[in-house]
Amino acid sequence: MIKKIVLAAVICSVPASVYAVSIDQQSWVAEARELVKKFGHKLKRARKEGLSEGGESKALEVCHLKAPDIAIELSDETPWTVRRTTMQTRDLDNAPDKWEMKVLEEFSRRKKEGQLKSNREFYEIVDYDGQPYFRYMRAILITKSCLKCHGEHIRAQVSSQLDSLYPFDQATGYREGDLRGAYTLRRKIGD
Ligand code: HEC
Repeated sequence: MIKKIVLAAVICSVPASVYAVSIDQQSWVAEARELVKKFGHKLKRARKEGLSEGGESKALEVCHLKAPDIAIELSDETPWTVRRTTMQTRDLDNAPDKWEMKVLEEFSRRKKEGQLKSNREFYEIVDYDGQPYFRYMRAILITKSCLKCHGEHIRAQVSSQLDSLYPFDQATGYREGDLRGAYTLRRKIGD
């Protein structure tokens, strides 16, 4: 009986070698890094434009509207699916799947042990919906500029906007340097 259970566990946990896939991991990692940079820049630009147009409330509105669109745009333009995820969601569409949760837990362990700043990435070839995928995540840390919308002291107007846009918001109360979440990218192997 014990043998059977062990065998089942092995079968479930070796998808990469079952597929016998081979990719040039370093060039895929380089592409993923490039996309993360692009995503980050676009988000930053959107927040900045909002801020200069109409302050924090406008910036919030812009984030609310544009962040999901930017992710979709990058996913449409490339062979990758590009998202952000977190253990404490604001937008429930960004909730992690099982693999992402495992990596977020790994990032949080690294954070506790003081290793995250120098080691923010995780990637692996895994099964996704029965197909071999290359999956990549990069941790996102809170900086000063995030605190207006994710910090401990949020202005009343922004706070009430958040309440109405995201009644289940869990993404406040952060401090500088905290782990906020991660960029998460996946790409099917063989396409
Ligand atoms: C002007 C307000 C505002 C600022 C400033 C801001 N965010 Fe956000 N953040 C939002 C909104 C609104 C969402 C939900 C957007 C969406 O639907 O993806 C969000 C979502 C996120 C998510 C996706 C996960 C989730 O909870 O839905 C991450 C990760 C994130 N923010 C990180 C950051 C970081 C890091 C900074 C600072 C560099 C930052 N944010 C600054 C408003 C803001």
